[in-house]
Amino acid sequence: MNRRLYYDIFSLFYDRIIALHSRDSSAGLRKFLIEKSGAGGDHSSLLDICTGTGAVPLAAAAMYGGAVRLTGLDFSSGMLKKAYSRASGLSGVSISFVQADASSMPFRDNTFGAVTCSHAMYELRPDVRENVLAEASRVLVHGGRFAMMEHCEPEKPFIRFLYRVRLAGLGQSANLDFAKNEVPYLRRHFSNVTMEKAPGGRSKVIFGVKA
Ligand SMILES: C[S@@+](CC[C@H](N)C(=O)[O-])C[C@H]1O[C@@H](n2cnc3c(N)ncnc32)[C@H](O)[C@@H]1O
Repeated sequence: MNRRLYYDIFSLFYDRIIALHSRDSSAGLRKFLIEKSGAGGDHSSLLDICTGTGAVPLAAAAMYGGAVRLTGLDFSSGMLKKAYSRASGLSGVSISFVQADASSMPFRDNTFGAVTCSHAMYELRPDVRENVLAEASRVLVHGGRFAMMEHCEPEKPFIRFLYRVRLAGLGQSANLDFAKNEVPYLRRHFSNVTMEKAPGGRSKVIFGVKA
């Protein structure tokens, strides 16, 4: 199935699945990701790629109000429809959504102070992921940070088996390799690349700086 169509269909259930899966931890995890991106410090703009229903920009809006210019990008119109509706009641914040492919973004070089990506990099085809990382670096200002969050490999053997099958199905064995250790992949595009476990220990954030 075409991936964009897959996500358009997935958007109909996505927020309910996330709510069931992560209970109240997901807001805290997104806050951790945003803090690691450095947004709100010296940098007053944040781009969230593969934003889905906008959970990261919405969490950043709750943290910084209108002090940070927020942009969410996704290629699925279904996901973005939900994001628009979630953001529609907010006032005093600067938040916009853009429909585009993250491997070819409609932004000028050096536009954003921080770029984030939450739970999406593993789902990209390896060649697409490489282009997305290059694009994330291109649109970041020098000194700006890219920060991505993903699940850690589950400890329970059966859940780990399902997790590996899903990753392999989404992008051949190269996805498993990336998921085990993202640091060398990010080092091709960023410096000072670091991995930190998020609170709760089930997710991790990997971040680096555009030199
Ligand atoms: C699992 S969802 C994650 C959504 C959100 N970041 C979150 O944490 O809730 C993956 C998202 O990546 C988007 N996506 C996948 N490939 C993409 C691409 N090449 N360009 C833009 N968006 C993409 C999908 O449409 C989907 O919304």
